[in-house]
Amino acid sequence: MSSEPTRSSWAIKDEAVLAELISLMDLNPTDIAMLKELHPHARTIAPQMARAFYTRLLARSETSEYFIGKPMAALHGTISDWFVDLFSGTYDSTYARKRLQIGLIHVKIGLPVRYPLAMMDVILEYGQQLVAHSSTPAQALRAFHKVLALDIAIFNQAYEDNQLKHLAELVGGERLARIVLAGITS
Ligand code: HEM
Repeated sequence: MSSEPTRSSWAIKDEAVLAELISLMDLNPTDIAMLKELHPHARTIAPQMARAFYTRLLARSETSEYFIGKPMAALHGTISDWFVDLFSGTYDSTYARKRLQIGLIHVKIGLPVRYPLAMMDVILEYGQQLVAHSSTPAQALRAFHKVLALDIAIFNQAYEDNQLKHLAELVGGERLARIVLAGITS
């Protein structure tokens, strides 16, 4: 297996992954200013978004069972804050690390990644509503797509980090774990 390919992306780890993703999104100062302009509107619309978010999750047993015994009022507040922070105008390593930690909380409750990824639909819907308040809606929508894509990538990264870590322990190394996951056999 030692002759199998090694990809340069495999060498990017931990903090460097977050820095790479931020750079990949290519958020320019205009994008950032447009998102920041929407920050007060995001605060206003956030409770409505949180209601739509939890209405969908509580409507089916596979997702609602995660909330048994959880403080729902507090969770409405945390998802609202998470949404508002998309419009904070600061997308640095502290921002990305915080979002990665949130992803990790979902890994640790045994939640399949398809659910949080699918729920980005609700976030997208409310982000689309918000950009109507922008002085340049089409460009603001483009900027919103960038920060949302960044979050989707970070959420997924939390899951991948966890899977790789455990598989690497089992098979004796991360490179081998990546080869196993890729299904490369010869
Ligand atoms: C767009 C997708 C999602 C986002 C942005 C999100 C965001 C958050 C945030 C910000 C918190 C608070 C974390 C903290 O305590 O610091 C949280 C907690 C939680 N989330 Fe999510 N979430 C998402 C999807 C889901 C889904 C699909 C489920 C379950 C079906 C879920 C279940 C939970 C639970 C149970 C907690 C509380 C964990 C605990 O404190 O024990 N989340 N989420």
